[in-house]
Amino acid sequence: MSAETAIERLAQRLIPGAAVTVLTGSGVSAASGVPTFRGPEGLWRHFKPEELATPEAFARDPRLVWEWYDWRRQKIAACRPNRAHEVLALWATRYPRFSLVTQNVDGLHERAGVADLVRLHGSIWEVSCWNRCKGSPERWLDETVPFPTLPPTCRYCGGLIRPGVVWFGEPLDGDALARADRASSCDVFIAAGTSALVYPAAAFVPLARARGAFTVEVNPDDTPASGRVDLVIRLGAEVALDLVEARLQGTSTAAP
Ligand code: OAD
Repeated sequence: MSAETAIERLAQRLIPGAAVTVLTGSGVSAASGVPTFRGPEGLWRHFKPEELATPEAFARDPRLVWEWYDWRRQKIAACRPNRAHEVLALWATRYPRFSLVTQNVDGLHERAGVADLVRLHGSIWEVSCWNRCKGSPERWLDETVPFPTLPPTCRYCGGLIRPGVVWFGEPLDGDALARADRASSCDVFIAAGTSALVYPAAAFVPLARARGAFTVEVNPDDTPASGRVDLVIRLGAEVALDLVEARLQGTSTAAP
């Protein structure tokens, strides 16, 4: 199927009032300049997750772990939301039953204007007390870029703080999982920019399909989800979503 036909098929499903859920991964931020995790230039090609993204790594060398997160925060701070983020922010206001579920920790959906989203893997802009000290909230926003000293310390107890992201070996937030589960009962479910390799996030695609959703993958490359969705759009998310939106706008302009 041509990309043009695929765009048309998705646009036809995005009728006013449809319950639309979009699951995003790092590919959605690729056009903004945020590195993905896998693939030729992916972060996990150059860095070892077990040295940087586990509680054990942090306990062993908090400074090293923070150097990596501080570097990523600086990189992300210099990036801007792209057309994919913009279109999704538009849809969030247009479709009353729209849900955005993201694996991304970069905050670019929020910067594009999405106020309510499910962050499965947390946020790189939040921190929490490593010792979960009594005086501190569970997590809080800290957008300091760069931190003047590493590792940064807890404003409540003076001990260490940790990045507000989910590390390997850690459970996902129960509330976020429950919300993502509910959002998987929808009319149209779009997985955009994810390798569909990391669970439980990847499980929401087949779950949505089993519950009757029309499932779509937006990704320039093949993934394990490709053969298990109703429609594949083999384009970058920033291109595909722009084309879908242009088609929707065309329809609404042409409508009486
Ligand atoms: P990955 O790096 O695993 O996959 C990125 C996907 O984006 C790949 O399938 C690419 O083909 C695709 N891609 C690249 N450019 C794109 C573009 N312009 N538009 C659309 N797609 C594009 O990233 P995730 O699937 O997000 O977890 O990875 C999932 C999780 O693994 C991350 O949240 C992170 C990582 O370990 C944690 O840190 C807990």
